[in-house]
Amino acid sequence: MKKITIAIDGYSSTGKSTVAKQLADYLGYVYVDSGAMYRAVTLYAMQEGIISKDNFNVEKLKESLNSIDLKFEKDASWAKAHIFLNGKDVEELIRNLEVSAFVSPIATVHEVRAKLVAQQQKMGLDKGVVMDGRDIGTVVFPKAELKIFMNASANERAQRRYKELVARGDNIDFQAVLSNIQERDHIDTTRTDSPLRKAADAIEIDNSEMNLEDQFHTVLQLAKDRIAGRI
Ligand code: CDP
Ligand code: CDP
Repeated sequence: MKKITIAIDGYSSTGKSTVAKQLADYLGYVYVDSGAMYRAVTLYAMQEGIISKDNFNVEKLKESLNSIDLKFEKDASWAKAHIFLNGKDVEELIRNLEVSAFVSPIATVHEVRAKLVAQQQKMGLDKGVVMDGRDIGTVVFPKAELKIFMNASANERAQRRYKELVARGDNIDFQAVLSNIQERDHIDTTRTDSPLRKAADAIEIDNSEMNLEDQFHTVLQLAKDRIAGRI
């Protein structure tokens, strides 16, 4: 069967990674969580004292980029994929609210983006890839055969993320999650380099009222139609 490239972009907590993983498992494609890569670079910067509440040493970050090695490992399904930072599994660590607080400033740095975009493009060379993020349809794979842009209300997105963090035992309050989402939306859409935008040829899906199953079937139908050349 013809293999295509599927780019899924959109705002935080719209369900991009959930649907991307389901799609990759169903189609036998590779899944790449580009957000996890920005999060892992952020964790490295936090651990090295490059970024904190009152300090962001952009020059040191740029000098350190060659010391950052990122790899993904897949388990039985993409739902269990893990990211490794310099050989260490950091899948759990990168999901906390502290990393979320620093990731968008880190992702404004051109050199960080250039490094990660080059690695992402390499991972998609053979097609048969589903990648989710903010700039996949606009910058990483502008020629992707299928581009999806996901959206949902900020309140719905914050509720979803809050539930997820509480379920893993994080001690946080809803307002902090909502503020973080709104702040990241702002930084991600207004940065100079590769701002979050819907690509002109992307199909927009608002899933505020959709459950995971509806969302998956909607996207899967689009993928099947595109692979078969029906759309
Ligand atoms: O899952 P969630 O929406 O919370 O975020 P993520 O996909 O893990 O991405 C975390 C952050 O990384 C985003 O808020 C962006 O600042 C940045 N990012 C980016 O700039 N470009 C991408 N392709 C993916 C993520
Ligand atoms: O990757 P992104 O940040 O866009 O979102 P996600 O990590 O796939 O989804 C964030 C949370 O929202 C997860 O706990 C999903 O199960 C949940 N979600 C949902 O309940 N209903 C949807 N239609 C989409 C996501």
